[in-house]
Order: sequence, then structure tokens, then C-alpha cells
Amino acid sequence: MAARPRRSTHHRALLRHHNHHHHHLLLIPPLLLLLFLIPPLSAILFRRANSLGRRCMSLAAGHTSLAGYRLSFSIVTLSDESSSGRGVRERSFRGMLNATAGNRRAYAALHGYGLAVLPPQAVDPSRPPAWSKVLALRALLHRHHWLFWNDADTLVTNPDIALEMILFSVIGHSDFHTSPDLILTEDANGVNAGLFFIRRSKWSERFLDIWWNHTSFVQFGSTKSGDNTALKHIIDHLSPEEMQAHVRIAKMQCLFNSYPWKATWKSVHRMIFHPSTTWKGVYSDGDFMVHFAGLDDKRGWTSRILKEIGTP
Ligand SMILES: *[C@@H]1O[C@H](CO)[C@@H](O)[C@H](O)[C@H]1NC(C)=O
Ligand SMILES: *[C@@H]1O[C@H](CO)[C@@H](O)[C@H](O)[C@H]1NC(C)=O
Repeated sequence: MAARPRRSTHHRALLRHHNHHHHHLLLIPPLLLLLFLIPPLSAILFRRANSLGRRCMSLAAGHTSLAGYRLSFSIVTLSDESSSGRGVRERSFRGMLNATAGNRRAYAALHGYGLAVLPPQAVDPSRPPAWSKVLALRALLHRHHWLFWNDADTLVTNPDIALEMILFSVIGHSDFHTSPDLILTEDANGVNAGLFFIRRSKWSERFLDIWWNHTSFVQFGSTKSGDNTALKHIIDHLSPEEMQAHVRIAKMQCLFNSYPWKATWKSVHRMIFHPSTTWKGVYSDGDFMVHFAGLDDKRGWTSRILKEIGTP
């Protein structure tokens, strides 16, 4: 049996414990302060990600000469406004197409791209409006070499970047005939259907038909419509060979689909546990496009960012 500690030792131990306890208490204010400072500091840091050395685009793409390749591009977007105020998603999208139309029009005009803004009548009323992008792309696919789908809650924030540069950065060459067909980005949830490129080809036609036929994924009455989940499901079930031949996922989400960073429990959690995903996708000055994915007050974000980049 161990001897009991002498009284004085015990007393010293108690004292030490007591002091220790005080040290912990003293740490609380700076820790709390740090906790409150992390979100705003992160926001400042993230907005400077590119000047801190992040590279969204391959170096070659930034320096390549695109003269000689004259492919036909069209940006395609669609209003969500016909089904006014059915869910949170519809509500927050209201007025977004108008708010971002000028920005998209100016960008398309600058580079000579087509711009197809589908009217509310183009929305299939039997599904949430987000699904109608599949129909819209299917209908326009034969008219251009590449279609660039834009959700209404997106803005071009760096119009100097051409779509040809984006594709070159992902594909590594500019030969249309040997290019993959679907160019996507990936966020913390997987591939994102808000901004992506699709190439004119038989494979793409079939892909869009298959996507549209994933009717069991259609969801009503929540913030999700199911089209993105269906896309993820299809991508997850492609064979490695088909994936390799037809689909590319950009290494950096910020190549054409950056999300603004807003301090919420979810985003702080994500920043701590998935720092690399956050870093690759967070919106920084100089990025090509911003996407207000999952954010409320999309109108507010739109006018703030438009003001920042100096557009009326
Ligand atoms: C969008 O703009 C058009 C014409 O500029 C206007 O007729 C329409 O009412 C606007 N819609 C919204 C929701 O602001
Ligand atoms: C999609 O569904 C329609 C109707 O059921 C069918 O005719 C068509 O073959 C399907 N397409 C593909 C690519 O699965």
C-alpha cells in the first residue's frame, strides 16, 4: 500500500493546482477574443488569397495565345422567377437575373460570346426551376462549340479572363475535337451544378438526357431541388474510363466558381476541418467569378460585389 503524502506536500500540490486553475482562467479572455477575431480575420485573409500566392489558373493558361482558335461560346442562364416564393430558394433568387444581367451582358459583349437568357416560359413547371437548365442546355447544344451554364446568383468579377483561358487551364490544350465534354468544379459537397461548361457532342446530348431522366431525384418544398444531387450521382457512377475521356473537374474551384466567405458556424467548422477545400474555393480579389451559393440576401451580396468591382 502506498504511503499517504505528508501534509506539506499535499498542501503544496493543492496550492499548485490552485495556481494552475488561475492560469486557465487567465487564458479565457484571450481565447474568447481569438474566437471572436477568427471570423473577421479569416474574411480579410481569404479576400487576399490570390495576392498571398494562391493560383486558380495554370500558368500556361495565363500566358497562352488564344489567337487562331475561334470557337463559338454561349453563356446560358435562366430565370428562377416564374415560381415566385414557393421555397426559401425561390424567394432568395427573386430579382437575381435582373441584378446580374448587366454584368453578364457586358462580359459576353467584351469577348464576343453569345448570351442566352431563357425566359420564364422556358421553365418546366413540373419540376423546380433549377432543373430547367438541363432542358435549356439540351436545346442550345447544337448551336455552339461550348455552352457555359451560369446560375442567376453568379457574377463575373474579373472580365479580363476569357472562357478559352479557363478551358485551356483545365484541359491543357485548345483542340476542340479531342477535348473532354463536361468541365466542373467541386466544393465541400462535391461537384457543383451552378457553373459548368458542356461541349457540343453526342456524349453531351446523352449526358443531358440521362440527367433529365433522373426523375427520382426531383425534390420540392426545400432549399434543394435535386438537380445537383442527380449530377453528383451520375458523376459518381461513371466508369473511370468514361470519366477520363469525358469529364474534367478543375483542381481549383476558384478557377470559375468562387464562393464568398461568410462567418457562420458551418463555414468556420469547414474552414477548420477542410482548410484545403475552403482555400481552393473561397472568393478572392482577382477571381474570375463569384457564386452566392447557399447564401441568403443574394441581392445584397450582388450590389456589394458590383460596387467593389466598380460596375454601376
Ligand atoms: C427585370 O427587368 C425587366 C426589364 O428591364 C422588367 O420588366 C422586370 O419587371 C424586372 N423584373 C424584376 C423582378 O425586377
Ligand atoms: C429518357 O427517358 C425517355 C422517356 O422515358 C426515354 O425515351 C429516353 O430513351 C431516355 N433517355 C436516356 C438517355 O436514358
